[in-house]
Amino acid sequence: MNRYLRALLPLLLGSGTVHATLECTWDAINALLPPNVSLSFVTAIPENGTFTVPRGDTGWPTDPINLPSLCAIGATVVGETANASFGFGLFLPSQWNSRTLTVGNGGLAGGVNWVDMGTGVKYGHAVFSTDTGHNSTTTDATWAYQNPEAQVNWGWRALHETVGYGKLVTEAFYGTRPSFHYYQGCSTGGRQGFKEAEAFPSDFDGVIAGAPAWWTSHQQIWQFWVGYVNYISNITMIPTSKFDVIGKEVLRQCDGQDGLVDTIISDPLGCNFNPETLLCSAAAVTDPTNAECLTAAQLQTFDTLRRDFQATNSTLVFPAWLRGSEHFWNLNIDGGAPNIIGLGYIQYMLGLGPDWAWQSFNEEVIQLSERLNPGQADASGYDLSEFYEGGGKLIHYHGMSDGGIATGASFYLYDQIDRALTPQGVPVDDFYRFFPIPGMGHCLDTADYVNAPYYIAGISMTPNGRSSVPQFPDAKHDVLLALMAWVENGTAPDAIIGTAYANFTTLDTITRQRPICAHPKQAKYRGRGDPDRPENWACQSPGF
Ligand SMILES: *[C@@H]1O[C@H](CO)[C@@H](O)[C@H](O)[C@H]1NC(C)=O
Ligand SMILES: *[C@@H]1O[C@H](CO)[C@@H](O)[C@H](O)[C@H]1NC(C)=O
Ligand SMILES: *[C@@H]1O[C@H](CO)[C@@H](O)[C@H](O)[C@H]1NC(C)=O
Ligand SMILES: *[C@@H]1O[C@H](CO)[C@@H](O)[C@H](O)[C@H]1NC(C)=O
Ligand SMILES: *[C@@H]1O[C@H](CO)[C@@H](O)[C@H](O)[C@H]1NC(C)=O
Ligand SMILES: *[C@@H]1O[C@H](CO)[C@@H](O)[C@H](O)[C@H]1NC(C)=O
Ligand SMILES: *[C@@H]1O[C@H](CO)[C@@H](O)[C@H](O)[C@H]1NC(C)=O
Ligand SMILES: *[C@@H]1O[C@H](CO)[C@@H](O)[C@H](O)[C@H]1NC(C)=O
Repeated sequence: MNRYLRALLPLLLGSGTVHATLECTWDAINALLPPNVSLSFVTAIPENGTFTVPRGDTGWPTDPINLPSLCAIGATVVGETANASFGFGLFLPSQWNSRTLTVGNGGLAGGVNWVDMGTGVKYGHAVFSTDTGHNSTTTDATWAYQNPEAQVNWGWRALHETVGYGKLVTEAFYGTRPSFHYYQGCSTGGRQGFKEAEAFPSDFDGVIAGAPAWWTSHQQIWQFWVGYVNYISNITMIPTSKFDVIGKEVLRQCDGQDGLVDTIISDPLGCNFNPETLLCSAAAVTDPTNAECLTAAQLQTFDTLRRDFQATNSTLVFPAWLRGSEHFWNLNIDGGAPNIIGLGYIQYMLGLGPDWAWQSFNEEVIQLSERLNPGQADASGYDLSEFYEGGGKLIHYHGMSDGGIATGASFYLYDQIDRALTPQGVPVDDFYRFFPIPGMGHCLDTADYVNAPYYIAGISMTPNGRSSVPQFPDAKHDVLLALMAWVENGTAPDAIIGTAYANFTTLDTITRQRPICAHPKQAKYRGRGDPDRPENWACQSPGF
């Protein structure tokens, strides 16, 4: 059956929604599972109910609320060795739209992502998530120590196999094959999306990959390195309290360079920034902690941090943060020592052990990381031609003020994919689009002095209990609906309208809306009308 016929199925079935043919009971679900899948629980959740996350699930302990009526399932896949086992969770809604959605994970966390499953199931999809093979918080890497099977589960295996089991259970539960399979994730979840499209191109018809941590073997070293640079000497250290001092000066210089002074840097790569204005006067320098300026030594550190990280042989280790991300640099630089995700990666994933001292960092660590590529987590194959040929569509987004994963890495990834595919005659724009989001931090968030319209109902942006874009639940504003329209109707998104709220938790008062354009186009103000209204902006090629 082709995908257009499959899309008609729910319509032919009458109401547009499909109801379960099986009961939401232990016995009914258990009978579907292969011998190596061990059921943990089957729970029927009523309309507007709450799912209580199992206590051991430390990765995502938040209970999803305001759920539609659904069947919640938890299971463990028993591997050949204990360390190869992993868990997964499923939400099967009572009123199903005949689609599936797999949601990704974040950081180094282990745990089924129940709260984002709650966001996804409100669209009517059957939703899957894996625990990636361990239980831990986002920043904890100790589980990976001398445990290659756990690393592979986190790298790719647990997610790929979860998709297989999820499809199997879904089809049996509703007595009909799902029409379309989708994926959505941010950060590690973005990496998982690219990895799937690259390694298992038939798992999904459509993938949304936000702020992808795709280059793990390099990114984790960079995340460590920025803190190493800052904290290796107290004389050159920039106190975190000065990140906003830098950020506000960057905004002052760069804001107008994109054509409109509006607190948003729309084109950080096009900003010509002079850091010398940050240098303290002779009088201010006597108080290096409080002054609204940088000492000459601090300015030197800033100059290192704002550039690409290059090895002494001049090869790129990792691209730099973009101008305008400084407010969020404390995601990687805080607390007097290098970032714990980067440090933990070196100690536990690279196996140097808990006694490895961060001050002893040298380039051999980079070489070791490249050689091991723990769990084959890197999504650096770049050749997505099979995914394209199978009809897959990929939406990639990244906040340009991301302080956790430098946005330069997404531009670099886009270029590598383009370079791998264009010579093969693959029209990249026909299946893969990249949306850099001005002013957005890591997966969500905007500095209060920026108030960027970033909200597109990406799964990690959406508050617990909510879904989509209130008042605008459509393919022009909601990234999942945009992907579905592309996959199912062939409507490719040239832009997704981002929304800013007075409060991004309550999503009630809208302050701004503006198109977020597919790279390389950028949103340009048309020159008249309210700049907080989307119709007064257009996507244009840079330089126009
Ligand atoms: C849903 O449940 C919440 C409590 O979790 C309650 O405040 C709300 O009124 C309920 N909504 C509906 C529509 O029943
Ligand atoms: C993680 O916690 C869940 C929930 O308590 C449990 O079912 C699962 O076995 C744990 N996983 C591991 C690898 O310990
Ligand atoms: C579970 O069994 C299936 C075959 O039924 C196999 O493909 C899969 O690799 C097994 N999973 C694990 C973790 O051993
Ligand atoms: C299994 O995991 C434990 C705990 O992380 C680890 O110490 C052990 O080395 C692992 N065993 C193998 C064979 O990988
Ligand atoms: C910097 O100062 C802090 C606090 O006084 C101290 O704990 C730390 O060891 C110093 N770091 C270096 C590299 O000297
Ligand atoms: C350059 O140096 C880095 C760090 O030592 C190393 O990982 C990388 O493989 C080197 N690249 C080349 C082309 O020699
Ligand atoms: C596809 O287009 C039809 C007709 O305009 C519309 O009703 C439907 O909602 C669209 N499907 C998606 C997934 O956008
Ligand atoms: C947004 O609303 C939530 C819930 O009412 C509240 O807890 C939070 O403080 C508000 N945030 C801001 C920035 O006002």
